[in-house]
Amino acid sequence: MSSKTKTRKHEPQAADRSDSIDFYDDANHNYEDFWLGRDYEHRSELLALNKLLKNRHYHLAMDYGGGYGRISPVILEHADKLILSDPSTKQLNIARRFLDKYPNVDYLKLKQKEVIPVDDGTLDLLVMVRVSHHLEDPKGTFAAIARSLKPDGEAIIEIANEAHFINRLRYLKQLKPVPKQPIPVGRIANGIADNTPFFNHNPQTIDNLLAGVGLKTIAKLSVSNLRHEYLKQHLDVERMLAMEKFFQGKLSRLDFGPSIFFMVKKTDSK
Ligand SMILES: C[S@@+](CC[C@H](N)C(=O)[O-])C[C@H]1O[C@@H](n2cnc3c(N)ncnc32)[C@H](O)[C@@H]1O
Repeated sequence: MSSKTKTRKHEPQAADRSDSIDFYDDANHNYEDFWLGRDYEHRSELLALNKLLKNRHYHLAMDYGGGYGRISPVILEHADKLILSDPSTKQLNIARRFLDKYPNVDYLKLKQKEVIPVDDGTLDLLVMVRVSHHLEDPKGTFAAIARSLKPDGEAIIEIANEAHFINRLRYLKQLKPVPKQPIPVGRIANGIADNTPFFNHNPQTIDNLLAGVGLKTIAKLSVSNLRHEYLKQHLDVERMLAMEKFFQGKLSRLDFGPSIFFMVKKTDSK
């Protein structure tokens, strides 16, 4: 596996505010390698998606910022057609091979921040996982998502959670509230371009932003709740996943885990 992923410092760091969104084209960066040794996190996310999509079926879905298509097979179990969109040509090329056996996938290159190049009111479902991590101000992207959905369309939006349990303890120790605004969290390794921005978000702020663009939260899950090096070293992954499955719904009210999945529905009221 590539080197450790995080240089998380508790104090906010300066982040590059560049407008480019094609940083996954970096020749040295291999996003597939990032997942080596992260079976627990990967399968926790698939569990969450399966839970949220259970008994639902959609005509046209989009995996937005879908990368190489890691989570697309789960979406494809619940959709007739999928558009995998991403700004990285490299990721799109890998995705074409990774999803080779699915004839019902179209690939769409994203060229601009906050622009989803489909007609308004087109999508029945949009899924965005591990993308808000790159958004300093997700409001414009949420508005674009709302526009792209059909009137009763739904979206699953994942955020990296600044208010997770361990962080809350850290803030408490410093007698500080968990910040409402996005927090830059430094660089992630694996050879990703140095100017790649990473932000954690406050779930309450995200919920408000979503409501502000007409996306009402109808379900929420707390994900990767046991993500801790000690637990990963001492517990068998199947046992961790059994606990994860049990806790994802129950811990969501506490915004406990490092990753929060929002399921939202488009409403008329903004
Ligand atoms: C960490 S990967 C996640 C890929 C996939 N969703 C997954 O969960 O495996 C982040 C992806 O988001 C894409 N991306 C970065 N900024 C974006 C933006 N502003 N809009 C859409 N996609 C973006 C990147 O090219 C990359 O493929």
